[in-house]
Amino acid sequence: MPRIEIAPSMLSADFARLGEEVAAIEAAGADRVHWDVMDGQFVPNLTFGPMVVAATRPHSTLPFEAHLMVLAADNLLGEYIAAGCERIVVHPEACPHLHRTLGNIAAQGAKPAVALNPATPLTAVEHVLHMVDMVMVMTVNPGFGGQRYIAEMEPKIRALRDTITARGLAVDIEVDGGIAPATVAQVAAAGANVYVAGNAVFRDPRGYAAPIDELRAGGAAGYAD
Ligand code: DX5
Ligand code: ZN
Repeated sequence: MPRIEIAPSMLSADFARLGEEVAAIEAAGADRVHWDVMDGQFVPNLTFGPMVVAATRPHSTLPFEAHLMVLAADNLLGEYIAAGCERIVVHPEACPHLHRTLGNIAAQGAKPAVALNPATPLTAVEHVLHMVDMVMVMTVNPGFGGQRYIAEMEPKIRALRDTITARGLAVDIEVDGGIAPATVAQVAAAGANVYVAGNAVFRDPRGYAAPIDELRAGGAAGYAD
C-alpha cells in the first residue's frame, strides 16, 4: 500500500496569516502543503503568486506542491520551483505541449505531476504516466474551495490505480475537492492515497489535528490496491 498523505489546501487558510498557517498544519500532522495557484483565467479566482509562497517557505519544513490552475504554466512553473515547491502539478487542459512541460519540471529538479478535471479522461495522461510522480483526480470543478465532492469520479480513480499497477509504476493518486472524513473512505477504496483537504481541515472547530488524523485513519482503513 502506498503511503497515505494529507495535503491541506491553503485556499481555505487565513490569508492574513499564511506563515503561521503552514507552521500550524505541520504541527497538526500534515504531510505536505497544497498551494492552489489560480490565474483568474483558467479558473475564476486569482490566488497565490510565487512571492507569497516563497515568503512562507521558512515557516515550515513540509514539502510544498503548487497546483497550477493557470493558462501559462510553462512561463510560471520555474518561479514556483524557485519559491520552494518540490512538486508542480499541471493541467493537460492548459498545457498543449504536456510532454515537454513535464520534462521541463523534471529538468529543473522538481517532481512533475498532472491534474485531471472531472470531464478529462485518463487517456489525456496515458502517454506521460511514466514521467510523473503523481496524478491528481479532481473531485470538484477547479476554482473554489468548499464545493461538493463528485462521487462519479470513483470509477476514474479505480481505473487509474489499475493502470498504474498493471504498468508497474510508482505513481501516487491524489484527490482534490470535497475530501473530508465523510468522503475519504470512498476515494481510498478506489485507490487514492494522497488527500487534499481545504475546508475539512481549516474550517473544523476542533482545530487542524483532528480532521488530519481522521483523514489519515479513514484513508488507511479504506485503502484498496
Ligand atoms: C479547487 C482546488 C482544491 C480546493 C480544495 O480548485 O484545487 O484544492 O481548494 O478545497 P476543499 O477541500 O474545501 O474542497
Ligand atoms: Zn488544488
